[in-house]
Amino acid sequence: MTRRTLAVVSAGLSQPSSTRLLADQLAAAARDELVRRGDEVELRVVELRDRAHDVVNNLLTGFPSPELRAALDAVTGADGIVAVTPIFNASYNGLFKSFFDVVDAQALVDRPVLIGATGGTARHSLALEHAVRPMFGYLRAVVLPTSVFAAPEDWSGGTAEGALRARIDRAGRELADQVDRRPPATGPADPFALTTDFAQLLGSREG
Ligand SMILES: Cc1cc2nc3c(=O)[nH]c(=O)nc-3n(C[C@H](O)[C@H](O)[C@H](O)COP(=O)(O)O)c2cc1C
Repeated sequence: MTRRTLAVVSAGLSQPSSTRLLADQLAAAARDELVRRGDEVELRVVELRDRAHDVVNNLLTGFPSPELRAALDAVTGADGIVAVTPIFNASYNGLFKSFFDVVDAQALVDRPVLIGATGGTARHSLALEHAVRPMFGYLRAVVLPTSVFAAPEDWSGGTAEGALRARIDRAGRELADQVDRRPPATGPADPFALTTDFAQLLGSREG
């Protein structure tokens, strides 16, 4: 049995939040698929609303609070990521973008990411493709082919049904496939780790 962790990032601002609801359902679909394949799965939820002030402070000072550090480590140390944002002005919201602005630019290379979004109108579903997918492309993450957008009419009393349910399940399977293909994550990279052998460093000073 392989132990896996999935980070679930939700940038919804409302309480309760439809973005969080979608994030939870996507994470559950991926977890259930991995468990079905014999893995043990831990979900680490990062509710960005709770870290909003810390994110802004990090942008201003360059340093994360301990709570934000823990959230960043949960994301950068996960085997797979579920990242869901509400659509604001036809794009990700500012909180979602600002959080990923403080993630180390190398930390998500080759990391499987399932992207999702909620919005007031299904007409803006392609914001996932023109805004969210390119951002993770820049970070060189592996964004799954299926992205999941949920408009208000897609929910039936808080549960996903029909086409939305089918997309959630498909996206969950795709995330499980990508996670299964990789060795288990070893945790967040140490930003202060030596990238050069210490003896080599000493040697380069000789003479
Ligand atoms: C400032 C603002 C801008 C928004 N812009 C859009 C938009 O361009 N397209 C859209 O479909 N919904 C838009 N919405 C609606 C939100 O995306 C929608 O209500 C979302 O599901 C809220 O998520 P939550 O329940 O997690 O807070 C906007 C909402 C706000 C507050």
